[in-house]
Amino acid sequence: MTTTGPVPALADRAAACADRLRAADRVLLASHIDADGLTSAAIATAALSRAGIPVETVFKKQLDAAEIESIAAREYDTVLFTDFGSGQLDVISEHIAAGDFEAVIADHHQPASPDDCHPDAVVDTDGYADFDAHLNPLLEGLNGASELSGAGAAYVLARALADGDTDNRDLAALAVVGAVGDMQAVGGELVGANAGLVEEGIDADVLEEGTDLSLYGKQTRPLPKLLEYATEVPIPGISNDQAGATRFLEDLGLDLKADGDWRTWADLSDDERQTVASGLVQRAVERGVPADKIETLVGTTYTLTAEPRGTELRDASEFSTLLNATARYERADVGLAVCLGERDAPLERARTLLSNHRRNLSEGLSLVQERGVTQAGSVQWFDAGDAIRETIVGIVAGMALGTDGVDSDKPIIAFASTDDETKVSSRATGPLVGRGVDLSVVMREAAQSVGGDGGGHDIAAGATIPAGEESAFIEAADEIISEQLS
Ligand code: C5P
Ligand code: C5P
Ligand code: C5P
Ligand code: ZN
Repeated sequence: MTTTGPVPALADRAAACADRLRAADRVLLASHIDADGLTSAAIATAALSRAGIPVETVFKKQLDAAEIESIAAREYDTVLFTDFGSGQLDVISEHIAAGDFEAVIADHHQPASPDDCHPDAVVDTDGYADFDAHLNPLLEGLNGASELSGAGAAYVLARALADGDTDNRDLAALAVVGAVGDMQAVGGELVGANAGLVEEGIDADVLEEGTDLSLYGKQTRPLPKLLEYATEVPIPGISNDQAGATRFLEDLGLDLKADGDWRTWADLSDDERQTVASGLVQRAVERGVPADKIETLVGTTYTLTAEPRGTELRDASEFSTLLNATARYERADVGLAVCLGERDAPLERARTLLSNHRRNLSEGLSLVQERGVTQAGSVQWFDAGDAIRETIVGIVAGMALGTDGVDSDKPIIAFASTDDETKVSSRATGPLVGRGVDLSVVMREAAQSVGGDGGGHDIAAGATIPAGEESAFIEAADEIISEQLS
């Protein structure tokens, strides 16, 4: 079967990566501990297994020199990195040159600079370090924060690994979960190469694209909770107002309960949905919510049609949060099992982890709102100390941007303590990136100036720095961001 694959610009790179994997006796797969990293790993694991290539999968919070060293110490000749690896090509290139392993990378983060790499192992592609088994949208001029995620890159690889028995298109559903989990949707919708993946998922009957209420929790939250917690578009008298949300629903004149319990959005008929949605829009208009905000109440939704109605797995956004709830709490094994189709015990476990994750996000957000953020020139920041887990402080920072007391027109930087270091997370907005902000550069350069390191995307990036260097870091970051904006 000859095909250019779902993303033609990446077809040659995918073929080179697939060839190297097919030549291996067995593969060690290393991936990142978030929803995108988990779905990347699940897609690659499934594709390798289907191709008859034995694979062992490990997850890392951050791929630093020590972690790469521990991977090199394993007796694998071939290592596949998904959802990270490009940014660490400086270190990986040393291991390739030393003959420690052969690498394959399917990633979407900013690649390292060729100047920092071993010259025998890499080449220069437009100022990015590159080598002969490297699948990354940025190397072909595609945007790694909005057009293809790590899971998307893994999916392109999976399609290239497919043989006569399977075309691996069923894995597109997981790729969409990864993209949604990395917040790649632009104005609520997946675009570019991601849109092509959606098409493949629809063709394979695993995915449906629709226009619906864009609130989080349509599959699983009872209606009053759905509305009460819907703070993305605050509606006075409903959002953050349990009694108000309940009264609003009761006043619609519909029968929205079954056996005395509130139904979910997924349980409603089309007519009922229409009535609730119109009521919401009407209330928002009456209470003076700006029109551009009201528009975002409705958006594109991605439904995993093979999953049971009323479960987290049916909605790409809820699925991705379920995965973050496992991987960011050292239970990536649980999330991987769920992605690979195991139900019962892993799914039960994941749901317990999810309620814990939700509580932590909501407490984290309250904490930021109580303590407030500190303005420092072109940035604003808060230090969560050990009150917010370092693995979710970035999600909290992103959720805080645009809430009361937090300027949506400035990047936000968050600190969280780890054992003996400080984890940094930063988030920007589309308009800020449009004006020149690139947080991956800010995080890398400001961190390096105080003895740490970092990277990521223009709109969302992170770093690790020595404890005690926070003020110096903010000063450096402020300076770089001011320059980017000038
Ligand atoms: O490591 P990774 O690329 O998976 O992490 C991406 C992170 O960036 C996600 O946690 C997501 O919340 C954040 N992000 C964002 N806004 C975007 C794109 C990504 O906040 N537009
Ligand atoms: O955890 P994750 O980054 O996947 O969350 C994605 C988004 O889903 C969050 O930024 C938040 O807006 C929303 N969310 C929510 N309530 C939760 C968990 C996530 O509204 N309990
Ligand atoms: O941890 P956080 O969600 O803030 O990460 C945001 C983005 O920055 C992710 O894409 C992550 O992979 C990247 N990052 C990085 N190096 C770090 C920390 C985060 O490249 N030291
Ligand atoms: Zn990712």
